Amino acid sequence: MRALLISKWTKFAVFLICLIPFADLVWRIIKSDLGANPVETLQHATGDWTLRFLVFTLCITPFRKLFKLPDLIRFRRMLGLFAFFYVSLHFLTYLGPDQAFDFSGMLKDVAKRPFITVGFTAFVLLIPLAITSTAGWIRRIGGKRWQMLHRSIYFAAVFGVIHYYWLVKSDVRKPVFYGALVAILLLWRLGDWFFKRRGQAPVRVAAPHISMNS
Ligand code: HEM
Repeated sequence: MRALLISKWTKFAVFLICLIPFADLVWRIIKSDLGANPVETLQHATGDWTLRFLVFTLCITPFRKLFKLPDLIRFRRMLGLFAFFYVSLHFLTYLGPDQAFDFSGMLKDVAKRPFITVGFTAFVLLIPLAITSTAGWIRRIGGKRWQMLHRSIYFAAVFGVIHYYWLVKSDVRKPVFYGALVAILLLWRLGDWFFKRRGQAPVRVAAPHISMNS
């Protein structure tokens, strides 16, 4: 298993797999096969894939530990960057067709519609993560601070779910499903942190029991 995970071919294969949703959309654009409302189709597909890639990224740490596969870490950055890639496309499908690239109109809309406000916040939170995702940035800002900064992916995922939940009109099954996945992944981290802390607690050495009879 390890040989498979550390192979550069596996990484390349995963990269190609992550591009499939994008290739599918490009293909459907070329064939004019995006249904009655092409913009809506693009918005929904890119939104769905953003959320999926956020979940995939959040799965890496628990899977590494639960299945004892530390080399899975090699894929985390790529998955996170794909989440950013799909949210950028998602944002563009909003900024272009919805807002005609009018930034001031967009900011007004962000302030006015709560589901856009949280979606936009999630997007903004992901920007520094994408920028600082390289090894050079870890060195520059230090591992601890880098880790703290990259914890904002938790908030981005939660805001992404709220965004989805608020925009659906009636059937909330899908946002609730993603919400449950994100909740499980975040609760797992909380449990892991809690048990690690307990494990690190200084061991109390019992005072020698001095008996009058000894
Ligand atoms: C991490 C950030 C984000 C995530 C995870 C996300 C996710 C989603 C999802 C899952 C959908 C619905 C897809 C479906 O119905 O199948 C959606 C729709 C949408 N999102 Fe986002 N989104 C994010 C950021 C944004 C941003 C930054 C904007 C714009 C500023 C935006 C605007 C929209 C719009 C306009 C729709 C369609 C609403 C409708 O059909 O009425 N989203 N998004």
